[in-house]
Amino acid sequence: KERTYIMVKPDGVQRNLVGEIIGRFEKRGFKLTALKLVHASPEHLEKHYADLAGKPFFPGLIKYMASGPVVAMVWEGLDAVKTGRVMLGATNPLQSPVGSIRGDFALAVGRNICHGSDSVENAEKEIKLWFPEGTIQYSLAQESMIYE
Ligand code: GTP
Ligand code: MG
Repeated sequence: KERTYIMVKPDGVQRNLVGEIIGRFEKRGFKLTALKLVHASPEHLEKHYADLAGKPFFPGLIKYMASGPVVAMVWEGLDAVKTGRVMLGATNPLQSPVGSIRGDFALAVGRNICHGSDSVENAEKEIKLWFPEGTIQYSLAQESMIYE
């Protein structure tokens, strides 16, 4: 099964949306295989967002992401990367459908409360960056009720 890196950003933590976001992934049927609260350094975040270095909003993005703790998670399941992005919504919350996390809880592109990997390759890179200690392997008791 595929896995993806999902993160509640500092604004999502401050706005008490951690449980809401975790609950959506749990209820959808995904399996949680890693989880921690981290106050990341600017250097660590610059690695995470290396592809965006040079964008005009990059310094502000790093400052925002380093402003407080984030919840780092790995979720595993069918088509986890693409499905995770659909559950998050579009980068700009105003373009996110109601029913998506950003479409339900956010308004501004620079305060969009959550992150999700955009490809399987980037998911694996991000999981290594945030969880060098590795993830947890276990089976879900209700797996046969989620997958045929
Ligand atoms: P992530 O899941 O956080 O990676 O978002 P994304 O994949 O939907 O978008 P992208 O990777 O292109 O940008 C990363 C983050 O930078 C976004 O989630 C926004 O928080 C921020 N960002 C992207 N574009 C803009 C912009 O035009 N203005 C501002 N202020 N922030 C932006
Ligand atoms: Mg991105």
